[in-house]
Order: sequence, then C-alpha cells, then structure tokens
Amino acid sequence: MIRAAVVGSTGYSGQELVDILLKCPDVELSCLTARVAEPVKYSDLYPRFAGRTDMMCENLDKEDIASRSDIVFLALPHTVSMRFAPYFLEKGVKVVDLSADYRIPAEIYGKWYGKEHSDRDNIKKAVYGLPEMNRDGIRGADIIANPGCYPTSVVLALLPVIGRLAGKGARVIVDSKSGTSGAGRKASVPLSFTEVDEDFKCYKANEHQHMPEMEYVLSGYAGDEVRIDFAPHLLPVKRGILSTIYIPLDDVSPEDAGPGCFAEHYSGEPFIRVRENGLPGIGDVAGTNFCDIGVKVTERTLIIVSVIDNLIKGASGQAVQNMNLMFGLDETAGLL
Ligand SMILES: NC(=O)c1ccc[n+]([C@@H]2O[C@H](COP(=O)([O-])OP(=O)(O)OC[C@H]3O[C@@H](n4cnc5c(N)ncnc54)[C@H](OP(=O)(O)O)[C@@H]3O)[C@@H](O)[C@H]2O)c1
Repeated sequence: MIRAAVVGSTGYSGQELVDILLKCPDVELSCLTARVAEPVKYSDLYPRFAGRTDMMCENLDKEDIASRSDIVFLALPHTVSMRFAPYFLEKGVKVVDLSADYRIPAEIYGKWYGKEHSDRDNIKKAVYGLPEMNRDGIRGADIIANPGCYPTSVVLALLPVIGRLAGKGARVIVDSKSGTSGAGRKASVPLSFTEVDEDFKCYKANEHQHMPEMEYVLSGYAGDEVRIDFAPHLLPVKRGILSTIYIPLDDVSPEDAGPGCFAEHYSGEPFIRVRENGLPGIGDVAGTNFCDIGVKVTERTLIIVSVIDNLIKGASGQAVQNMNLMFGLDETAGLL
C-alpha cells in the first residue's frame, strides 16, 4: 500500500483529497494535518467522513509525516508549501504540491506572488503535473507542481491548437468564470454569501497570478511566445470553472482548428471529453475529474469552451492522477 499524507487537510482541496484517496484501492492515508490546538477526529470536523475514516487531524509535524508516508500532498497556501517541500524531498518522500510554489521559475514567481522563492533548486526539479501534456515526465518525478485551476481549464483547451497559432501573432483572449471555492476556505468579505449571491463580477482583469503560469506553460509547449489576455470572473456557485477562449482566425484555417482536431489530439485520454456538437457547461463536470471541451469555429473566430471542477480536475483529482502515474498505478484509480 502507498502511504499518503494530506497536509492542509481541512481546506477545500484537502477535503477533496481525503475523499478521493479513501476511494483508491492501493493507498492508505497516513497523516491528516491542519493548524489545530489539539488532535481532533477528522470526522468530528467533517461529519460527512463519519464511517469512512477514524483518523485524527493533527498539527503539522514534518518528521512524523516523513517517517510514515511515501507521498505528501501539500494542500497549503502559496509561500507556505515551499517551507516544507524541501524537507520531505530530502527524506525521500514524494511531493505533490497543490499551491503555486513550484509551477513557474523563481524570477516570475517573485513578481506575481510578492515573495522571493526560498527553494530555487527544487523549482528546477519540479515537473508540471498536467498528465495530458507531461505524462512521461510525471512518471519519473519526485516533486509535482500541480497546475492551477484556471490554467488547467485554459491550457487543456489550447494544447490541440496552440502550436499552429504560435509565431503568427495570434491573440488569445481568455474569459473565465469560477465558483467561490476557487479562493479557498478562509473568510473574506468579497466572498461572503451576501456579496456573491445574485451577482456576477469580473476581477483582476489582466492582473491575475495565473496569467504568467498559462503563458509560461503554453509558450514552452508551443516553442514560441504565447500572449494571453485574461479576464477572470466570480460566479455565484460553489464549484466549477468555465473558460471561453477567443482566437481570431486570420492565420489558421477552420479545418485546422475544428472539433475534429481536438478529438484527435485527445483520443484515448481518460479525462478529456471533446464535444462533437454543442458546448459544455459546469454542471456536466461538477464532482468529476473530467475536462469537457466544445469548439465553435467560423471563418472569423475560433471559440473554445472548456469546463472543469476546480477542486477536482483543477486541484485534488489531478493531484491523485499524478500520484497514480508516479507510482505506476492505473491512472484513473479513485477518479472514475
Ligand atoms: N480551491 C481551489 O479551487 C484550488 C484549485 C487549485 C489549486 N489550489 C491551491 O491549493 C492550495 C490549497 O487551496 P484550498 O482552496 O484548499 O485552500 P484552503 O481551503 O484555504 O485550505 C488551506 C489549508 O492549509 C492549512 N493552512 C493554512 N496555512 C497554514 C500554515 N501556515 N501551516 C499549516 N497549514 C496551513 C489550512 O488549515 P488551517 O488554516 O486550519 O491551518 C487548510 O487546511 C492553495 O495553494 C490553492 O491556491 C486551490
């Protein structure tokens, strides 16, 4: 059995990780942590786990975790993960980090996350954990940078066509909508029920910290600079992301960018479903590890719509998909 610890187990992604890992036949949970005054039964904190696990949730003790685990999921805020990942790696424990700490080079990170990176060596070793782009690299990795939620929806939507668009001056305009769980569980006035319910807002237009991640990953994949304009929105729903991507088709023929090219690119992928007709909605993927993609192409514009559950394909489900690859398990274990 693979022994897996969830650090940050009380957060939204952490809870989802516990839920999925309990369904994995080859995995046993080793430690659940959060900042708690004293150990508390996890199912007392979250009664939906009653009858599924008797484990305690404890304060983070890295030595104890390392001695009892083969893999650690860090479901911690950014800038916190990098304080703990080096220790686990040094002890030979594999790491899947759900935060942004290992996704982009240190120089870019410092600018967008407001703090100098303290673990530059391991950034270089980290593999970006998007299986549909990087499966072989993930298999041999000791540390995975699990992708951000918005980038997962956007990068998956663009992989089939970005190579044809790069270098032609194509503008990629991304308009994304996310449910409120995307911001985590901590209290904040803009995310309170009265502020969010029955309203719909754009925020951080072209200033969101996921922009450099999308540009970095897509540029690397395309072998050429990819520029993105990004407008995220806050939806009055708990979970789900819908990204609509607009690409003017001055340089690419419609035949080169239609649904057929997406279906061919993702043929055999267990978690990508390309629509032959119509466009997907958040309700089609909520609670699943799927990314559904729909394409509308006219002679003027290619419009791609991609949907994911931000907590599953956008975080914990993808993290478990990565673990399955790292340990040579069935990639879909616990996820279908
Ligand atoms: N939510 C999403 O849709 C999503 C998607 C992709 C990636 N992510 C990333 O995944 C990470 C977790 O996100 P989340 O939404 O699950 O966050 P969250 O709901 O705010 O949970 C954060 C977890 O970390 C613990 N924690 C916070 N500060 C800590 C510290 N200094 N030391 C130890 N434990 C600490 C929290 O518990 P206590 O406060 O009780 O200690 C909690 O268990 C973040 O980096 C986020 O950006 C989130």
